[in-house]
Amino acid sequence: MASAMPRINPAVILHLNGDKIIKGREPCLIAISVIDFFKTGLCFNFRGNKKGHMAIFKLHINGKERQVDVEPDTPLLWILRDHLGLVGAKFSCGIGECGACTVLVDDKAIRSCGFRVSKIKTSKITTIEGLSVNGDHPLQLAWDEVDVPQCGYCQAGQIMQAVALLKMNPKPTDGEIDERMDFNLCRCGAYHRIRDAIKLASTKI
Ligand code: FES
Ligand code: FES
Repeated sequence: MASAMPRINPAVILHLNGDKIIKGREPCLIAISVIDFFKTGLCFNFRGNKKGHMAIFKLHINGKERQVDVEPDTPLLWILRDHLGLVGAKFSCGIGECGACTVLVDDKAIRSCGFRVSKIKTSKITTIEGLSVNGDHPLQLAWDEVDVPQCGYCQAGQIMQAVALLKMNPKPTDGEIDERMDFNLCRCGAYHRIRDAIKLASTKI
């Protein structure tokens, strides 16, 4: 009986801002990864594409105008952390799935790891650093009172997601909190305390 020929799939390498990020031979895995990239707005180039050109962007961040000279597809998170030293928003999954990088763009919560600088235009960006002058936003005070964080890594993203929630819905029910916060992951499992803190803050806004 003739033995089946081994199937050889072509290697595929995806690049983000010049860095090799995915390499593999399994078409289904590559397809899922590509879908993730489209879904989250990340930019990728197949090997051999030229790097993008640099451009100057004026950004409104935490009430100040900032200027950066970067490639148009640079994710906002890179700009905040690497160019402007605003390191409250964290890098974790990098594909828009965990929420650690959440910031506000015109009061809407977005995942900054997949949000290209060229999409920002005149929008106003708020990060955890710009939420209050002395860390006394009602959500920050409630977070402290309920003692929410464990390791703390996800917490800036959680708070910014909660800010967007309370702007839209100042008195959310438990179900509405769970629905909105569902996609912000916490490896320490602080979900109950996060919900309690949001409810507490909602009584003070
Ligand atoms: S790092 Fe942006 S969603 Fe996970
Ligand atoms: S507090 Fe540790 S990941 Fe959320």
